[in-house]
Amino acid sequence: MDLREIDQFAKDIIFEAGKRIRDAFSYDIKVETKADANDLVTNIDRETELFFIDKIKAFNPNHKILGEEGMGEGIESLDGSVWIIDPIDGTMNFVKQHRHFMITIGFFVDGIGKLGYIFDVMREDLFYAIEGEGAWYNDSPLRKLKPLPLEEAVIGINASWIAPNRRVNHEKMIELVHKVRGTRSYGSAAMEIAFVVSGKLDAYISMRLSPWDIGGGTIIAKEVGAIATNLKGEPCNLLVQDTFIIANPSIHQEILTNYIEEK
Ligand code: IPD
Ligand code: CA
Ligand code: CA
Repeated sequence: MDLREIDQFAKDIIFEAGKRIRDAFSYDIKVETKADANDLVTNIDRETELFFIDKIKAFNPNHKILGEEGMGEGIESLDGSVWIIDPIDGTMNFVKQHRHFMITIGFFVDGIGKLGYIFDVMREDLFYAIEGEGAWYNDSPLRKLKPLPLEEAVIGINASWIAPNRRVNHEKMIELVHKVRGTRSYGSAAMEIAFVVSGKLDAYISMRLSPWDIGGGTIIAKEVGAIATNLKGEPCNLLVQDTFIIANPSIHQEILTNYIEEK
């Protein structure tokens, strides 16, 4: 398998899909809801996923595709060559803010992450990695993350988890917020992961993410030494929804041990 060729193919289709999404702002975007009133999807999410499926199937019909909008095949294992795709991560930002949404893609062979991409569609910024060769932000290599104390960390976290909630002890989360230097919330898991792997954030925590939110990002994480696990500290399972943390290795365990108490 020629990973270089697949990497070039992936970049070509990501850039082309990005242009189609940017062009979509000049015509009607139809917004619908999915699981609940705040879970948005648009015709552009679906059209973009279909665009990727058509291109990948033409490139190699044996490759399998797991996409958020369910237009690929139902996947029960990561055997073979599998693409995990979120055509628009941060749909609420896409609809409301017209910025801060990502295309994110991971390419796996027999469960091993080979190529990972997070593309900021409006900025035309690409974070990507090739297994064992490194990670890049556009044309610049991303460096291994430098250790830092938790007091100096800036972490990505959604305000819902600081308020009383069903999933995690929010009192502990308040202690974490007081401990760190600052918190941010961007509304796109892939964007927050891209920021951790490039040192713009030092950790990002979520109580519930899906394989397509994190697939590409976990591959980039490995190349820069960021640690991505669930909140029990176990490796990410890319076939199920789960809790998630990605962090600078110097603070990953400390956050889990001292501040995360799942209910
Ligand atoms: C969502 C975003 C959001 C995260 C949600 C995801 P979507 O993805 O990444 O930041 O908090 O859990 O579902 O639905 O916009 O692709
Ligand atoms: Ca998503
Ligand atoms: Ca999405």
